[in-house]
Amino acid sequence: MPTPARTRVLPLTLGIGIALLVGCANDDTPTAPVATGASRVSDMHSAAVAQEIRSLAAGRGIGPLERPAPVRPELVRLGQALAFDKILSGNLDISCMTCHLPAFGTGDGRSLSIGQGGTGIGPTRTHPTGAFIPRNAPPAFNLSALEPFFWDGRVVVDEQGHFLTPARQRVNPRITRAFEFGALSALPLFPVLSREEMRAESGNELAKVSDKQAQQVWHLLMERLGRFREYRRMFEAAYPGTRYAEMNFGHASNAISGFLVDRLAFNDSPWDRFLAGDDDALSEVQLRGARNFLTARCSICHNGPALTDNLFHNVAVAQLGPGKGDGASATDDFGRMRETGRPEDRYAFRTPPLRNVELTAPYGHDGAFSDLREFIAHYSESDLKLHAFDASALEPALQGTLLRNFDDILATRDPLLDGVVFDDVTIDEVTEFMKALTDPAARDLSAIAPAAVPSGLPVDGR
Ligand code: HEC
Ligand code: HEC
Repeated sequence: MPTPARTRVLPLTLGIGIALLVGCANDDTPTAPVATGASRVSDMHSAAVAQEIRSLAAGRGIGPLERPAPVRPELVRLGQALAFDKILSGNLDISCMTCHLPAFGTGDGRSLSIGQGGTGIGPTRTHPTGAFIPRNAPPAFNLSALEPFFWDGRVVVDEQGHFLTPARQRVNPRITRAFEFGALSALPLFPVLSREEMRAESGNELAKVSDKQAQQVWHLLMERLGRFREYRRMFEAAYPGTRYAEMNFGHASNAISGFLVDRLAFNDSPWDRFLAGDDDALSEVQLRGARNFLTARCSICHNGPALTDNLFHNVAVAQLGPGKGDGASATDDFGRMRETGRPEDRYAFRTPPLRNVELTAPYGHDGAFSDLREFIAHYSESDLKLHAFDASALEPALQGTLLRNFDDILATRDPLLDGVVFDDVTIDEVTEFMKALTDPAARDLSAIAPAAVPSGLPVDGR
């Protein structure tokens, strides 16, 4: 006798239920769902569970984060002074660290940064013309584990060792001969060129230089710095055997990178202690969160020791702010497509690393979310969440800038997010796990700011 239809229908219905909960699995996706009430292990602290989580992590290459090789102290000291010195800005009113503040996890606590011409620091900073930088200032933690740099990856070294940057052939061997930290050594060359971030439209000798003449801006900056005996002394101590007159802004850029790499490496979070064998380093909730994170799709993109694949994905984050001049409104930001020209890269941004993520709100390439839990919740039915995005949580000046291009964004959303649905408890647990990625030493970064800088200008972040 054939099986009654009823008993065949039942498993099918169950199957649909599970598919809704975890989305359709593809080859690379473990079929294990984001954990649900039913599959939760009662005693998460058992050694077996700890072992299971460690082996899931290993399967994603999520191992301990190596500390970078020590950097010579003279180079770190020079880089620290330069990073905090407003002398690098056209009108002497902003330093690198004004947007990468020690008190805000090396970001600025803002959805979008406010550049030169602004006053105040962090969330209370304002600009007389209401100008915003188009993107969120990412943290400067663990930079030796990242590359390419910037949200769209526009600074990178290719396989032949060529520096691919917005300044193209102007980042030539004369500039790169001082470089010791790969693509990162090139990064500080760019904020000083940007009129919005540091150089300004007028009011100083750097502003007068045409945008095409990056070399000239860098040259004038070295002239400025060379007027301070203290800087000449610090440069020559940082690069023994080279006279200041023989150096160029590549040396300054490399020193800033050396400072960031050396002073902002953090690899002693509860998660690191757990990986090293301490079964009790994570709370029970964090263990559940870790397991969810590792069995769900999160860790397909957020993998490796720094929890980033260093690749680009569109995870359906709403677009706001002045944008990068893209789209019909010119207020859109096509992200990675700006670099590759490939339509499928539209709205893709580099996967951010997640270490110390608890300390680096707001989140996303444009700071669309000020709350960590909210960003994680966004992944569940991200298509519906995007359509329902609530701009009223943003600062008033940004609320009216939300682009309603939701369907365009969803057209290139990463297929890994198709069908992803999870419940509130799972969101709570994963959020708690994120907090296990915080190195306690990163909670108070006040020691990275120098007491004073050679120019004598005020130091933001003290
Ligand atoms: C006006 C605010 C502002 C200033 C000043 C500024 N930054 Fe940034 N920084 C940002 C923003 C915004 C981004 C992201 C830009 C993007 O991806 O397009 C960024 C990106 C970075 C990154 C990339 C991190 C990553 O994950 O790829 C580093 C490193 C960095 N800045 C260091 C510096 C240094 C060094 C200086 C000084 C030479 C500097 N910044 C000056 C706002 C600022
Ligand atoms: C398809 C790849 C992908 C998957 C899957 C993914 N992420 Fe992300 N994640 C990204 C990208 C890319 C961004 C930045 C997006 C943007 O700003 O537009 C991001 C941003 C974040 C942020 C904000 C970090 C910051 O500094 O701004 C958090 C937190 C985060 N993801 C956690 C998770 C969690 C938890 C999961 C699983 C539920 C997950 N991600 C799944 C790629 C991914």
